[in-house]
Amino acid sequence: MREQRFPGLSIIVTEDHVSRLIWALQEFGATAVETRDETTLTSAGKGRVVLIAGFADPIVRNRASEELHKEWGGLEITASDVSDDGWSAGWRSFFEPVVLATIQVITPWMNPRESGLTTIVIDPGQAFGTGGHATTRMVLRMLESRAMEGVLPSEMADVGVGSGILSIAAVKLGVEKVLGIDIEEESMNATRENAAANGVEGAVEVYLGTPRDINGEWPLVVANIDLAAFQRHAGDIAEIVAPGGEVLLSGLLVDQLEECVGLWPGFDRGGVLEDDGWAAVSLRRVT
Ligand SMILES: C[S@@+](CC[C@H](N)C(=O)[O-])C[C@H]1O[C@@H](n2cnc3c(N)ncnc32)[C@H](O)[C@@H]1O
Repeated sequence: MREQRFPGLSIIVTEDHVSRLIWALQEFGATAVETRDETTLTSAGKGRVVLIAGFADPIVRNRASEELHKEWGGLEITASDVSDDGWSAGWRSFFEPVVLATIQVITPWMNPRESGLTTIVIDPGQAFGTGGHATTRMVLRMLESRAMEGVLPSEMADVGVGSGILSIAAVKLGVEKVLGIDIEEESMNATRENAAANGVEGAVEVYLGTPRDINGEWPLVVANIDLAAFQRHAGDIAEIVAPGGEVLLSGLLVDQLEECVGLWPGFDRGGVLEDDGWAAVSLRRVT
């Protein structure tokens, strides 16, 4: 059998940068990131960690490498193909089902973990969002709790739709129409394919663009991006939230929460969730 190879990046970092760097790698399109430290066979020595990131496409890998060099000058980054020394099996084992109170997110090769839960199947392709990341999980929880309280509206906008996971979950939870946008071309296919695989393609529309490209006012807007994006786009996102409507923001480190909330005059702060050093907040438009 021919050996399978994946475009990869290997990066040596100090321990304190691991969490942010894994986030950045996923943001730039890595489909899996493996961590090798002192406890594993390949290691970079005490206090240093080797991150091996796998990508579905060499173009995405090369772009990720450029972006990392730009944003994290001084990193030791090596681009190479990752040969299949168990990588594909390892790649698959990287994903765990995400099981919440009423929904579970699995990949196509997994069996549902629990019966009686709404199952969402997400193929980890080139776009971010398998539910495994704390920032996604927190928005899923917020959507789920609104569905359980019976206050989920019939329409939602998803800014930074990624794999489509939040849009698909929203529809499965009862939202009738979702508009998703993203600046990444890969996310268009990923969202369309994942929506179809979950039988909700009729309810999820997706476009390439930024928040400024969304028309109308929406009773619910979700945006799992990052503080820098909110600093740039809070005004545009605020405009598409209907009066009395809600925006759920994620992608924030806990210590970025206050700064982010300050970007939304005319909004009242609702609940905050924290998970693994990340925070998500709900804000309600009052003016
Ligand atoms: C962290 S991922 C979230 C994906 C998915 N919604 C989730 O919750 O797992 C952030 C997504 O936002 C997109 N993005 C970043 N900046 C954006 C912007 N200014 N406008 C629209 N999308 C943006 C990225 O391409 C990426 O797909």
